[in-house]
Amino acid sequence: VKIYADGAVLDDMLSAYESGIVSGFTTNPSLMKKAGVKDYVAFAKEVVEKIPDLPLSFEVFADDFETMEKEAEKIHSFGDNVFIKIPITNTKGESSIPLIKKLEDKGYSLNVTAILTLKQVEETVAALNPNVENIVSVFAGRIADVGVDPIPYMKKSVEICKTKKGANLLWASSREVFNVYEADRLGVDIITCTPEIISKLKKVGKPLEEVSLDTVKGFNKDIESLGYS
Ligand code: E4P
Repeated sequence: VKIYADGAVLDDMLSAYESGIVSGFTTNPSLMKKAGVKDYVAFAKEVVEKIPDLPLSFEVFADDFETMEKEAEKIHSFGDNVFIKIPITNTKGESSIPLIKKLEDKGYSLNVTAILTLKQVEETVAALNPNVENIVSVFAGRIADVGVDPIPYMKKSVEICKTKKGANLLWASSREVFNVYEADRLGVDIITCTPEIISKLKKVGKPLEEVSLDTVKGFNKDIESLGYS
């Protein structure tokens, strides 16, 4: 499975880029807000300038399809390595599929995002252009957040994406390092990870005895601040 970095803190993105661990990047409006991005276009252009050779996903901001289309044109113009992120619906629950088809006809690479159901996966994959690389982002973590096992969803999504050339399945909203192994086992193409998960990946393979010792050492260190003697 390819690992992408999910976030909008430029320094984190650049250190992930320099580490060579990641093969691409995803962002979204909430991550940009959290990172304090004030000027979306300036931010995106800086990222493209500093990371010119790996896939980058930038999302449209509008909620009406006409403005989304204009934003998509602008995002497309940022660079050849840019995927335009289109949410599968707007906030009214209206399907983005007609817009997705329109943009696919133009040969643009999309990252269809906020997908939670298999019906959405099927409709998205059916709308994709097989001559273009695209990303289908299924939010496994948000499926798990409502108490539903995401594994069968991801397994079925792998099958659906296999029916269309260029449809790359992305495991979005990862929650822990183990998700990377689950994604890999299922044959998911990409998993996007937070900086916390990327940094934890460095610990992969550490003997559990050592992790146990680290755990006790961590507790012990924090006891110092509790005024216990
Ligand atoms: C992926 O592209 C999304 O930006 C991201 O993984 C969403 O994560 P969340 O569901 O934890 O907000």
